[in-house]
Amino acid sequence: MEKYSWKTYFARNMGVEWMRDKPQHRNPVRLMIVDEARAVGRTILDVGCATCIDYPLCRAAGLEYTGIDITKKFVESARKRYPGVDARVGDALALPFPDGSFDAVYSKDTITYFPPPLWRKGVDEVWRVARRLVLFSFCSPLVEKTRYQKVKVQQGAPVWDNRYGRGEFTDYVKGHVGFERMEIRSMRVWKPDTPHELYLFFKKSR
Ligand SMILES: C[S@@+](CC[C@H](N)C(=O)[O-])C[C@H]1O[C@@H](n2cnc3c(N)ncnc32)[C@H](O)[C@@H]1O
Repeated sequence: MEKYSWKTYFARNMGVEWMRDKPQHRNPVRLMIVDEARAVGRTILDVGCATCIDYPLCRAAGLEYTGIDITKKFVESARKRYPGVDARVGDALALPFPDGSFDAVYSKDTITYFPPPLWRKGVDEVWRVARRLVLFSFCSPLVEKTRYQKVKVQQGAPVWDNRYGRGEFTDYVKGHVGFERMEIRSMRVWKPDTPHELYLFFKKSR
């Protein structure tokens, strides 16, 4: 199995400040994730949380937030900025939580970077630890047919930046035990011609 080049990529190439939204962005994807999570319960897990950008929004909405990210410096920065935040260093491909631990689990702009075919494992893990709602967001829309692609970065080895086939991705998630229904939302965030997409998968309530 190939080494995870993106592990070192995020650690080396991405500054902590880059991983922050400016307050004026009021990113509609983030607002929608929080609203949807609130509608199904009280606990939320952010997989690939970086610097826990969404923590203040979640807290203001009364959600109990937990974040997990593989890049230690992002997690450390989050803990410094938000004392008391439950932010952990860990791998999305082996989440250290029992099944059904959180009412809602989301992963925003993260599984895109997994080396093929590991996005399926990422989906399995998110599904496993979610009780009611699973959300995936992508800052480029899904495409007709999966394209695994490597991109060159300024320093270090090329990293994966995949575009998943909409049918392949959604069929895979829907194939999980307990799937009830799916919704897709498309939103303009930064670039007018590249909408962000949010995929919501509801699990049957037990
Ligand atoms: C583009 S950033 C998105 C951060 C955040 N979700 C947001 O939308 O602002 C991708 C994040 O995924 C994290 N990441 C990549 N692979 C991961 C893995 N296997 N497990 C946990 N985090 C991972 C990176 O460290 C980085 O913080």
